[in-house]
Amino acid sequence: MNPLNHVAIIMDGNGRWGLKNKNSRNAGHKAGLNTVEKVIKETIKNKIKFLTLYAFSTENWKRPKKEVNFLFNLLENFLKSRIDDLNKKKIKLKIIGVKNFSKNLNNLLNASEKKTVKNKKLQINLALNYGSKFELLNAFKELKKNRKTINEKNIEKYLQTTNIPDPDLLIRTGNTKRLSNFLLWQLAYSEIFFEKKLWPDFTEKDYNKIIKKFKNTKRNYGRI
Ligand code: IPE
Ligand code: IPE
Ligand code: MG
Repeated sequence: MNPLNHVAIIMDGNGRWGLKNKNSRNAGHKAGLNTVEKVIKETIKNKIKFLTLYAFSTENWKRPKKEVNFLFNLLENFLKSRIDDLNKKKIKLKIIGVKNFSKNLNNLLNASEKKTVKNKKLQINLALNYGSKFELLNAFKELKKNRKTINEKNIEKYLQTTNIPDPDLLIRTGNTKRLSNFLLWQLAYSEIFFEKKLWPDFTEKDYNKIIKKFKNTKRNYGRI
């Protein structure tokens, strides 16, 4: 059975779920938060050490302002109301992506990271204003600036995921088969599962089914 250390998730399908069930995309984003809670719990139960959640991409700024504002309000309220409990559960929160939001939100994100920095049960990497191409370009620029040799080890040092092992498993919900600029370097050898269900409909049972399949997959890494 494969060890499972790091799960990454593209939480897709909120907007469609909201439109279908409540005639509002934003209602789907709100419903999606329940799935986040369920998945966090199940990740701990499965003794998985890293969970990376794609919450907002560098491309998502192209959405209507009303939706973008709603998403960031939702995040702000979530952190304000949940960070103490996450901390109690020994969860470490790390933001990957560029923190160039409002001063208030930047402060809240930094404070949430700081508060949980010593926790060791589960590390949640929240990808916010994250884009893999930007991340890679930035790493190459830093290497050049610091006159470092270009090799795998040095590139990884300058990625936002430095010190985080690569995901073993990537799940994308929402019935779409693409990576949408997520962890292009880090997913080089991950097992990828595309799930038809929309994110708010994704259950613990669905999650565990994928984990089970993952554990029984033969991972070759080029060998036979
Ligand atoms: C994913 O759900 C969440 C974010 C991108 C913030 P979507 O909002 O992309 O949902 P669909 O794909 O439009 O249904
Ligand atoms: C990917 O979903 C980003 C997140 C889940 C945060 P999108 O819905 O933005 O992806 P595309 O645009 O359909 O590829
Ligand atoms: Mg989508």
